[in-house]
Amino acid sequence: MHAWLCDNPVGVQALRWTELPTPAPLVGQVRIAVHAASLNFPDLLTVQNKYQHKPPLPFVPGSEFSGVIEAVGATVRHLKVGDRVASVGVSGGFATHACVDEAAAVPLPPGFDLDDAAAFAFTYGTSHHALIDRAALRACDTVLVLGAAGGVGSAAVQIAKAAGARVIAAASSDDKCTFCRELGADATINVSRDNLRDALKSVTDGKGPDVVYDPVGGELAEAAFRSIAWRGRYLVVGFAAGPIPALPWNLPLLKGASVVGVFWGDFVRREPKACRQGLAELFGWYAQGKVKPAIDTRLPMSALPEAYARMGSRGVRGKLLLVN
Ligand SMILES: NC(=O)c1ccc[n+]([C@@H]2O[C@H](COP(=O)([O-])OP(=O)(O)OC[C@H]3O[C@@H](n4cnc5c(N)ncnc54)[C@H](OP(=O)(O)O)[C@@H]3O)[C@@H](O)[C@H]2O)c1
Repeated sequence: MHAWLCDNPVGVQALRWTELPTPAPLVGQVRIAVHAASLNFPDLLTVQNKYQHKPPLPFVPGSEFSGVIEAVGATVRHLKVGDRVASVGVSGGFATHACVDEAAAVPLPPGFDLDDAAAFAFTYGTSHHALIDRAALRACDTVLVLGAAGGVGSAAVQIAKAAGARVIAAASSDDKCTFCRELGADATINVSRDNLRDALKSVTDGKGPDVVYDPVGGELAEAAFRSIAWRGRYLVVGFAAGPIPALPWNLPLLKGASVVGVFWGDFVRREPKACRQGLAELFGWYAQGKVKPAIDTRLPMSALPEAYARMGSRGVRGKLLLVN
């Protein structure tokens, strides 16, 4: 097998495409022939030693991938050779093969495309947990999605539309705004050109969004919170812009609004049943054509550094795939 190996987490430049012995699955594990892996923002951080979970060295990065099971270890009960699966974790996906625990390999429903499966559970799982579970989104709500052309943002746009809500998508260029309208957004705001608060006033008749989905943080966060509607719910999803924003506590008071934390990784660990229910609803929406990952580009697995460079420079609309 081949894998991108990280034995020194100082950045992408230290990763090496390395030939390794193909591992036999341990007890309770399955070996997956990786079909494709997608790049998620934490993958950028993990190889720089900046992510909260730090895999022991050396490790193979790649938090999300799809493939076909080609060997099963002792005690594996629910999976067999030939099953098509998706897997989300912290590492292992940027390779031709990966061994994971049985519980970390999710069998795919018939008809679920293997490319889409490599770019689904992380982003759609996060955005479903955020909007449907944590924010209890209603069809009468208006949602502002920040970073709407990115991975979790593009999933949030589609999920909010699937739930019947009105979606305002915010992104940093006209090109990204056009992409968000193609995803289903009802209105867009180019935050590089337009003042966020003025634009939100104009597209919501002064009322403000009921729900804000924020994977970006930085300086947009306070402006977005100041615009939120009475009884609004502000979803803290991530800090792609870097700085973790601070909020004056009088603002939630004045709006009767909630600041709602979203941590999909711990939701999966702490509430596996609720997580499976969310995924089942998403699989149903996928079968109905309501949600589908927007794949920006497919690159060969060996082109991982190019994929990292594009994500790091905000050059991706939707998801980047690395295929074997
Ligand atoms: N809480 C959770 O459970 C959870 C789960 C998954 C991901 N996340 C977090 O969500 C965030 C987004 O993840 P993602 O995979 O969707 O990433 P992504 O595909 O790279 O999207 C991030 C978006 O943020 C915007 N952005 C603004 N400033 C940026 C900067 N300085 N660098 C990079 N992007 C910037 C970009 O949009 P514009 O160019 O349009 O501004 C970009 O499209 C990350 O912080 C990630 O850790 C959290």
